[in-house]
Amino acid sequence: MQPINLSILISGSGTNLGALLTAIREKGLPARVVQVISNKPGAYGLVRAQQQEIPCRVLTTDCGSTALLEWLAEMDTDLVVLAGYLKKVPDEVLEAYENRIINIHPSLVPAFAGRGWYGMKVHEGVWARGVKVTGATVHFVNGEMDGGPIILQETLKLEEDDQPTDIQQKVLKLEHKLLPRAVALFAAGKIEVQNGRTIIQDEGEHQ
Ligand code: GRF
Repeated sequence: MQPINLSILISGSGTNLGALLTAIREKGLPARVVQVISNKPGAYGLVRAQQQEIPCRVLTTDCGSTALLEWLAEMDTDLVVLAGYLKKVPDEVLEAYENRIINIHPSLVPAFAGRGWYGMKVHEGVWARGVKVTGATVHFVNGEMDGGPIILQETLKLEEDDQPTDIQQKVLKLEHKLLPRAVALFAAGKIEVQNGRTIIQDEGEHQ
């Protein structure tokens, strides 16, 4: 299978980026990370990318959507992956890459998702509500925060004594499996979007 070109957008530590790079290197995920773009110059994910000689860019507010569109086109991007990217994607980019931008969210969307639900806030909310089952979601990105068609979800049963940081760590482990699976489905052309829902063709075995 021809590898697809991924542009990864991050804001933070980039462990999901790391999981994708591992899946490409060790598990034959048919993809290439052609660039990593961060809105934060100090994001540790940029260090991870530089260690593997992946081109990096910092998207300051002055750059605007034109720069982002140019960078994505310049690197022949097939799929844009938001891996812990905390800014809104500009409308022009959403239009140009419709159903070609995915995001990973650390809950079972639509619960604990949308405006204000990000990072530890999600896991604190899950804990405070006494939720018994949480999880992770990969979805396409549209103009609505965490609102695009859901591609994959995985659940996690919580223990009575799990604290928000425990929940975060357990969910992050799930994310590291879920995101490469979603990219593999996209690369294989197995995701179809119909009426705001996805239809996933036979995924086959996954670990
Ligand atoms: C993950 O929990 C992801 O779901 C959320 O931000 C976090 C990013 O983690 N959108 P990392 O930067 O990949 O370590």
